[in-house]
Amino acid sequence: TRQFFVGGNWKLNPTSLSKAKELVEVLNKAELDPKTEVVISPPALYLLPIQAAVTNKQILVSAQNSFYKESGAYTGEISASQIKEAGLPYVILGHSERRTIFHETNEVVALKTRAALDAGLKVILCIGETLAQRESGETAKVCEEQLSAVVKQIKAEEWSNIVIAYEPVWAIGTGKVATTAQAQETHVDVRAYLAKAVTSLVASETRILYGGSVNAANAKDLAAQQDIDGFLVGGASLKPEFIDIINARK
Ligand code: 13P
Repeated sequence: TRQFFVGGNWKLNPTSLSKAKELVEVLNKAELDPKTEVVISPPALYLLPIQAAVTNKQILVSAQNSFYKESGAYTGEISASQIKEAGLPYVILGHSERRTIFHETNEVVALKTRAALDAGLKVILCIGETLAQRESGETAKVCEEQLSAVVKQIKAEEWSNIVIAYEPVWAIGTGKVATTAQAQETHVDVRAYLAKAVTSLVASETRILYGGSVNAANAKDLAAQQDIDGFLVGGASLKPEFIDIINARK
């Protein structure tokens, strides 16, 4: 009963609005599995024109980040309520690029999640370990720590507005996709943690996406895993193969 979810995280791409609109045109014309929840996440300045360009109502538009304060002296930031007012349903929070390049801590990500839910947004919450952490056997522990900061801020019934994206840092943009077994195993660990830290209902109902070098060739096997409820796609979401990923369970 967990609806299959495929998100396209465009990151800081493409290099012009006209190219962004071309991506939407391809999606508008495509035959998308009606059972998949489809979300695209363009850069902030493109959110409104891209939302206007989407004609297929199955395609939802998400921001890539939002701040934890509603207003004030926070130069360069965008608030969750501004995103909500713009009619956008989702925001991606805690992406590893935000954590690493922009020094967002687990606590900052948790505050942002709290603020986004307060504003009425749904959150795609990213977690995942580095290569060094995986190699030292810390994958489950790192994911738990990242989630535990959020668990402290969120009531059990609010988890229905959160989608978790497990994105091992070593698999992002590297072409090194996690094996189906590696992804499935971590998803099981994350679900077990949710059962322990929140409730077994939240554990069984929360969608856990996999992200990291997903493409048309590897999506079907990953999508067949019991605990993989969809994908957060970077590079391949800028290519026509994104449609095949959306249709991975078809
Ligand atoms: P790639 O699909 O390019 O590896 O990026 C994954 C990602 O970071 C999605 O948020």
